[in-house]
Amino acid sequence: MSCQLIATEVSFAYERDKCVLNGVEATIQDGSVTGIVGPNGSGKSTFLRILAGLLHPDAGSVHLNDRALRSYSGRERARSIAFLPQSISPAFSLSVFEVVCLGRYPHSSAWGSLSAQDVAVASRALVQTQTDALRHRDFGSLSGGERQRVLLASILAQEPRLLLLDEPTSALDIHHQVEVMALLRHLCRDGYGIALVTHDLNLAARFCDRVVLLGATHCIVADGRPEDVLTGPLLSEAYGSTIRVGQHPFAPAPFVMATLPEGDGS
Ligand SMILES: Nc1ncnc2c1ncn2[C@@H]1O[C@H](COP(=O)(O)OP(=O)(O)O)[C@@H](O)[C@H]1O
Ligand SMILES: [Mg+2]
Repeated sequence: MSCQLIATEVSFAYERDKCVLNGVEATIQDGSVTGIVGPNGSGKSTFLRILAGLLHPDAGSVHLNDRALRSYSGRERARSIAFLPQSISPAFSLSVFEVVCLGRYPHSSAWGSLSAQDVAVASRALVQTQTDALRHRDFGSLSGGERQRVLLASILAQEPRLLLLDEPTSALDIHHQVEVMALLRHLCRDGYGIALVTHDLNLAARFCDRVVLLGATHCIVADGRPEDVLTGPLLSEAYGSTIRVGQHPFAPAPFVMATLPEGDGS
């Protein structure tokens, strides 16, 4: 059965009269990768939290399949949707393997007892994210990039249908960025639906099927295929500065560069 998350005309404000999302829409569909991009403070993380059901829109709606997202219990929701926050600081001392096993909570019958299947799923997630060698390490002792991959393993262990990832590659080196994006594409072929917030427009251009571009006015500037959304005029409008787009040197994708102010040599 297919799985989709549909946000319609979503508006949201943390404080009265300070709108951070204004009529924003998106469909997150299994079998596709959607990139959510836009300038700092445009509302990307807020939108992802609304899609995850962690915040509720002031206006508009979010539906998971044919039901309002709000009508699902937390546990039910977690079997369909996994959310990876932008940053996380561990409150307890846990090993990497224990962190990954936390992802199994929506499936476990009694808290604390892991089945053989739970252990097998968690072990597979460690291998998928190339973190198996870290399994006995204290999570708190890991580098930012290692943590990011372990947290990805934890939400894979959750075995959801949709992954909502807030800047999943921001702390990764160039090799691991591409490895994680290739893993996401692979998961997408296996039927996962993925939405990811990223500042890396070139990764979005290369690896996303769709891109939602938010502007500084907290509205959608464009939504569509990367080659239609990641254009000089649309990006310049969203970011409020001149952005140029050419052809990627070896991939069939746009290649995005910000220009320096006039006279600075670009
Ligand atoms: N918990 C909060 N309380 C009040 N304002 C917030 C909160 N979280 C985010 N904001 C504000 O909402 C706006 C959008 O934030 P965010 O969704 O994090 O943007 P982005 O992820 O695009 O950088 C920003 O102006 C931010 O300062
Ligand atoms: Mg953010």
